[in-house]
Amino acid sequence: MAREIIEGRPLVEFPIVDAADYLAGANARVFTQDDVDGAFSAYVEAPQDISFNFPEGRTFELFVLSGAVTANGAEVGSNIFVYMPPKSPRRAITLHAGSAVFFATGEKDTGSGEFAIIDPDTIPWQVRTSECALTATGTSVNIVKHLRSEPDSRNNFGIDVMWPGSNFECTEWHDVADEIFRLRGDLLLLDPITGHPVEAKPGSYAWRPLDSRHLPKYSHTGSVQIFRNREWPVGKVTMGYTEAPDWSRHLAAYKAKFKTIDPIPGL
Ligand SMILES: [Fe+2]
Repeated sequence: MAREIIEGRPLVEFPIVDAADYLAGANARVFTQDDVDGAFSAYVEAPQDISFNFPEGRTFELFVLSGAVTANGAEVGSNIFVYMPPKSPRRAITLHAGSAVFFATGEKDTGSGEFAIIDPDTIPWQVRTSECALTATGTSVNIVKHLRSEPDSRNNFGIDVMWPGSNFECTEWHDVADEIFRLRGDLLLLDPITGHPVEAKPGSYAWRPLDSRHLPKYSHTGSVQIFRNREWPVGKVTMGYTEAPDWSRHLAAYKAKFKTIDPIPGL
């Protein structure tokens, strides 16, 4: 079964499960799994050192959230990305005691390239401009880093930033899937099913299947998240936008919460 839409769901609402034999002893919360090809994404904590050889046949993507891991003999600290192709001779991973990682396995027999450890500090930021013409300014901007992109499938892994006060007023959809795990900051969204406002805090997760409607979004203090895009179409991605009813009302209520913060004494 294709993966269902998930938006702004807190980490603790994903139960700890037996995600895979090689993760025995870890606490894995599976965010989403494709029942047909077996690809899945998870938050994994290691209560003690856990070592395994990642099985051949799938890509393996890991972002260290806290603590450290060892990947093919190299020490990898927090906020570092690790990529392993479906076939490579060395596939040794150790999650060290106390570490936590975002963990994603790819679709079967997709992926290419070489094993890589990528420090986001070595990748430049890019400004990404939306074509939504319904925003007050006529545009909306995210700042992104693509840590890795597949040359053929275009599957990617990156970091996305919204600056303080950034507001994207549209509902959007596109023929590529979005996956999001939030790291820092605040974010207001509308639930794509109920239309109710959702405060997506650090640790919350989203999977937006092809053509599913999602957003708008607003961050008062700024936000940072990691993202993956999957299931790219052949050729150019088609984007769609429409107005979001009630967004301005929900946004005003959300902004009002921040006005209750007591000023710093002396200022
Ligand atoms: Fe999107």
